[in-house]
This record gives sequence, structure tokens and C-alpha cells, in this order.
Amino acid sequence: MTETANQDLEALKAELVGAASAAPDLDALETLRVEALGKKGRVTGLMKALGGLEPEARKEAGRRLNEVKQAVQQAIEARRDDLADAELEARLVKESIDVSLPVRPRPVGRIHPISQTIDEIIAIFGEMGFSVAEGPHIEEDWLNFGALNFPDEHPARQEMDTFYLPSREDGTRLVLRTHTSPVQIRHMQAHEPPIRIIAPGRTFRADSDATHSPMFHQVEGLVIDKTTHMGHLKGTLIEFCRAFFGIDDLPVRFRASYFPFTEPSAEVDIGCSREGGQLVIGPGKDWLEILGSGMVHPNVLRNCGLDPAEYQGYAFGMGIERIAMLKYGIPDLRTFYDSDLRWLRHYGFVPLEAPSVVRGL
Ligand code: DAH
Repeated sequence: MTETANQDLEALKAELVGAASAAPDLDALETLRVEALGKKGRVTGLMKALGGLEPEARKEAGRRLNEVKQAVQQAIEARRDDLADAELEARLVKESIDVSLPVRPRPVGRIHPISQTIDEIIAIFGEMGFSVAEGPHIEEDWLNFGALNFPDEHPARQEMDTFYLPSREDGTRLVLRTHTSPVQIRHMQAHEPPIRIIAPGRTFRADSDATHSPMFHQVEGLVIDKTTHMGHLKGTLIEFCRAFFGIDDLPVRFRASYFPFTEPSAEVDIGCSREGGQLVIGPGKDWLEILGSGMVHPNVLRNCGLDPAEYQGYAFGMGIERIAMLKYGIPDLRTFYDSDLRWLRHYGFVPLEAPSVVRGL
């Protein structure tokens, strides 16, 4: 290797190392790397030219060239680290967060009073060991009426009261369930006693005025085992009414009634007063009907494959809108479904701030 060739290599090394250390940014550095060490780069070109030298000279020149290559590589890597650090530093300064800035208010949604009331009902019965069951909105005529011991000529079966779907080929019809009671049947058919469920959900009737909506909500309750009696029904429902309305001494009255699927049947009233035209729930001179109940009729048990000589129990059902209106002072049933945001802001519940209901138990 000649002296001049040696000097040229030193000059090349100095030039490339100098250029790497001075590269203004990562892009410029990359361009330099390609120009020096890429496939067609200057150092690469010299490496390729080694092939034309005598073996002795090639060895020496190869060693020197490798030194140049390594020096340039190191200079590029060092510069790359410096540039990356500087870039990060600049970003940290630019993107710093001012934690003292006031937060931007975000609109908070409200829980609809129907959802809130269902949650409260589930919480109270949940504490009493009930679990939640569900059934379809479109129901078999047999499960909505027949299995529940409704006679064929019962008025609820009339077209004017019930939404029927067109008849099927075998003559049977589906209905929009008129109550949550078919969930009782489905549950007894699918589960062995002991049974202890509530079934909240939507129900449908061909009815619409200030106190009736074609779609509304009910909650059903069902308890079946070998020894459950009317005393359990009364204790459970008294406890529920007092917990739900949050009134420890709320009077609760059981009044003989009739439902095809219970025997005996009872309607449940709670105490209230209407003095000065204002309805106040609690001890008072008046009564307000809030739910239906009774001991499950032997025919219903039989329709579900249970032997009434072995099993017995009670059931109950109530309108969710009705008890929500009473508890929260909502005057008009139709407003539940108007989707008026002003109404929802007024009557709705802020998530996590909703009143705790299990406290009363
Ligand atoms: N299904 C009845 C209705 O829609 C409510 C009802 C009353 C349900 C008494 C029951 C019950 O389970 O025992 O009016």
C-alpha cells in the first residue's frame, strides 16, 4: 500500500466521520450512511476494488479499509443516538402537560328511572336470595295463557287486549307477552325446585291512555319448594315494600283477589294519605294497590310437570312504571317513553350517585 493511498484513506475517513458528526438530523445521517456504506457507497466501492490488488497489498489495504468502515459506522451510530436523544428532549418540552389547567366539563348521562327501579328491585330481592330469570318478548300463546290456567274464553285473550302474531300452519299463534308470568312457566319447565327467581322485563298490551302504554314493564316473582306457604309470601312482600319505599313502618295489606294462576290470590296494598290532594306514601288513612300475588295454582304446577302433592309455592307480579311513579313522584306514565332529555335530566339518576336501596334491609 502506497503512502498516498494511505493518506487518501485517512482523508476519506476524516471527511466521512466529520460529516456524520455534523449531520443535522436523522434523515441527513441516513443519506450519508447510504453514500458511504451503502451498496454503491464510496467505502463499499473501494472494498470491491480490492480484488484487483496483489494478495500482499490486498491484505494491508483491506485492513485499513475495514478501519475506515468501522470508524464511519461508529460515528454514524454515535450521531444517531445523539440525534434521537435530542428529538425526545424536544418532544418532552413541546408536549408537556399543564396539570393545573381546569378540566373540560364532559356531559354526564343519566340512568332512566325504569332502569334504576329495576336495579333497585333486583338489589332488594337479591339480598333475599332471589336470582334473575328472563324470557322472550314474543311468546307462545300456551305459555302466556294456557299453561297459566287461563280459560279459553278469558277476556285477556281477546284481540282487542293482546297483540297476536299471524297464526302458524298448525293453528297456534305467538303473542307479544302480556305479562312476565310466562317466565314462571319456562323456569319451572327447565329447572328442578327449589326455585327462587324474579323476572323483570317488557310486556305488551293493546292499550294506550294516560295510565296505560302498549309497552310497559313488570317484574315477576316465583318461589317453589316443598314447604313454602302463604306466610312466606306475606313476609317477603312486606319486607320488599318497606325496603323499596324506604319506610320501615309502611303499612302493607293483603286483600283477597283472583288470578287464574294462583289459589288463593291476594292483591297487595300499601298505606298512604291523600290529605290536601297530595299523595304521600306511608302510614295514613288510605290504601294504594301495588301488586298481585298468590299461591301457585296446582294446575300450573301440573302444566310444568311438577306434582302439586309434593311441591308448592307462591308467585307475584307488579308493574314497574307504577311503583317508579309512586316512589319518584312522576305524574304521567307516557313521559317515560317520550325520550325528552329535559325530563331525563330531571328524573334520571347520576351513575354511582343513585340512592342505595339495600340500606333499608
Ligand atoms: N300477571 C299478573 C298481571 O299481569 C300479575 C300477577 C299477579 C303475577 C299475581 C303473579 C301473580 O305471578 O301471582 O296482572
